[in-house]
Formats: sequence, structure tokens, C-alpha cells
Amino acid sequence: MLKDKTVVLGVTGSIAAYKAADIASKLAQSGAKVLTVMTGSAREFVTPLTFRSVTGQPVITDMFDSQSQFSVQHVSLADMADAILIAPATAQIMAKLVAGLADDMISLTVLATKAPVVIAPAMDHNMWESPVTQNNVTRLRARGFTIVGPGKGHLASGKEGWGRLEDTEKVLGALRMTMGRKGDLLGRRFVVTAGGTQEPIDPVRVITNRSSGKMGYAIAEAARDRGAEVTLVTAPTALAQPVGINTIPVNTAREMNQAVAKAVLNADVLIMAAAVADYQVASPSLSKIKKEATGRLTLELERTPDILGETKGSFLRVGFAAESEGLVRNAAQKLKSKALDLIVANDITQADSGFGTDTNRVVIIDRAGSVEALPLLTKYEVAERILDRVNALSKV
Ligand code: PMT
Repeated sequence: MLKDKTVVLGVTGSIAAYKAADIASKLAQSGAKVLTVMTGSAREFVTPLTFRSVTGQPVITDMFDSQSQFSVQHVSLADMADAILIAPATAQIMAKLVAGLADDMISLTVLATKAPVVIAPAMDHNMWESPVTQNNVTRLRARGFTIVGPGKGHLASGKEGWGRLEDTEKVLGALRMTMGRKGDLLGRRFVVTAGGTQEPIDPVRVITNRSSGKMGYAIAEAARDRGAEVTLVTAPTALAQPVGINTIPVNTAREMNQAVAKAVLNADVLIMAAAVADYQVASPSLSKIKKEATGRLTLELERTPDILGETKGSFLRVGFAAESEGLVRNAAQKLKSKALDLIVANDITQADSGFGTDTNRVVIIDRAGSVEALPLLTKYEVAERILDRVNALSKV
């Protein structure tokens, strides 16, 4: 969604200014045209050359630079921005924005723009917790600005607390969410599942699978980025909790079943990308199972609830099928037996597709029998194509 979009990146004077180079780089890698604006204080921490190098675009440092194509007279940056991201944002810049000051290129551009604005604060934790700053944050939120972070942790002052610039992925997630607020899924409520459930054997061991959660998280984020309200029911993963998504962590298939049953009461669409265990240990041991010198250990397994099969309602139901053979045939069978609207058949025979990868190769089959094979795409791109199909179906 950032491809060919113009993002004005405002960098202000915080020690976290160096982290903005990573944000600028990731934005540029996503295909955005990144125009960096730096305050004088920001340039004390990091040079404009860094941002020019990672974005391939000029860096604006001076409101009165007569050589600049972005001169103050025509507030051109404010007009050309598809979004403005200030990262890191100091207490000072936030106070200026609240007051409507326009004495530097960042505050001027924000005052003059109609584009969505995202602010990622970074400062000492006492400054962040100050009632003045908190009041400013409330007022900026009330103006429709998105505030992402700050995070908690070690600060430049040597103290621990709230004030760290939020992680790049979260900042970019907040930007995409804000830019997509009026997207084509506006007002639609999605429940998405992700990850591999963990069924306990004893207090320290589980039966699980190789799902990383990436596919389900990509669907949840892509839906959010198109304006949907998203609940993500997730089995344990190593992924960060996505910004702007109601995330419900679960461990077992039974817990996922309960969470999904509750979440779908208010949903328009359920997409089950999770790899749910088909079996659980019938009686998990309450204490750690001791290893014996010889012999075998036998575990008695019983079926888990079939979440998709049992969850009924007037919402659209989309399943996944991870298959190592008979891809379309087996997936079509699951579509029928679980009475789904769509099924995404996931080819797991290739190294670049399926469990744990960043890319995926899928075939989408609908209830009318149409079969659409997609090429190798990133999981986010696959998610977008699934959402296109869901959107088309819900208009029928
Ligand atoms: O998480 P990643 O590393 O990104 O990997 C993504 C993925 C490969 C896990 C994902 O793309 C995928 O294919 N998920 C489905 C995995 C699977 O094997 O599903 P299944 O064929 O066992 O089940 C079919 C459908 O029923 C699935 O939508 C599943 O969520 C659902 N199911 C399964 C078992 C069960 N007890 N209840 C269910 O609802």
C-alpha cells in the first residue's frame, strides 16, 4: 500500500533520530517516495546525508532555502504528502503542533496539510509522563493524529521507563493503518486466526507444528490497512503484536475454539489461517513426565474441536488447507466438508512456500468451484488477493 505514495518523514532532535534512518530505509524499500525533513536539533544527532542515501531523495533542512524545490511560499510538501510521519517526535514538536506554530518546516507542513499524520514520540520518561505532554497527546489524538508508542525500556538518560521510539515495524504498521482508514473494507469486522496451537503433554512439553503465524498476521494487517476492524486470535508466535488490531493470545485448539466462537458473534468474516492441532493428549500429565531407562512412552490422543466445521453464523468463512499432495483436490474436499465460502490451498512442497516463509504459493477455490492459482507472492500480497476475493464475495 506504500508503493508510489509520498511520505514526508519529519525527524526531530532526539537521540532516537538515528533509528529514523531504518524507518526511512524500510519505507523506501516498500516503494514509497520518502521526503525527509530534519530540524536543526535532529541534525545534531544524524546528518542529512544518511537520509538522502537511504531514500534517494533530497532532504529538507531549511524553510528559507531559495534553491529548494520545496519552498515555504507554496507549502508544496504539505500538498504532495500522502502521509506525514514524525519519528522521532520530541515533546517540543508535539507542543508546537498543538499550538499551531509554524516556525520550522515540520510544524509548518503539518499545519498546512490535509494528509493523515502519524507521530512516534521519543523522549525522557519524565518528559513523556509530564501532564503537559500527556495533555498535548490527548489533543493531538483528538485532532485525528495517530500516536504510536513510545515503548518502554532503557532510555538514553540511563533510566528505565516509557519514552523509547517504538519499533520500526510498529511505526510502519501505524502508518499503514492510518493511511488505510478509509479503505474498501471500512466498517467490516474480521476475525483472523494465526500460528500453530500447542497441546500440552505435561507442564513443559507440547505437541505443535511449524506455523510461524506470518500468513495469519499478514491477513490481519492487510485487512486493517484497508480500514477493517480486526480481531486476531493467535497461537504462540515470535511475531510482535500488530498495532491497531485486537489481539487475543491462546495456546490450545480448545482455547482457540472458545475465543473464535466469542469473536465471531460480531464478525462479518472469519479467516482461519492457523494450523490447528487435530489431536490433543487425552490426559496431559500434571507433573513432568520422567524419562525411563528403557522402553517406549505411549500417549493417548483424542480429536480437538473442528473450529471451522463447528463455527456457524451469517459471516463469510474462509479456510486454509496446507497440502503436500493433491493440493486442489484435497482443498476442494475441505471446502465442501466444512461448508466454506473460500478455501486457500497452500502448497507446502516448496522451500519458499508454506510454513515459516515470507513468501507463499496458493490456489484460491470458491464455493462455485472456480480455481485461481496465484504466483509466488509475499504473504502480505497473498493476503491482499484473499481480501479482494472476500470483498467481491460479500458484495454478491
Ligand atoms: O504460519 P505460517 O508459518 O505463515 O504458515 C502458514 C500456514 C501454512 C500455517 C497457513 O498458510 C495454512 O495453510 N494454514 C492451515 C494449516 C492446515 O493444515 O490446515 P488443515 O488442513 O489442518 O485445516 C483446514 C482448515 O481447518 C484450516 O483453515 C484450519 O485452520 C481449520 N481447522 C483445522 C483443525 C481444527 N481442529 N480446526 C480447524 O478449524
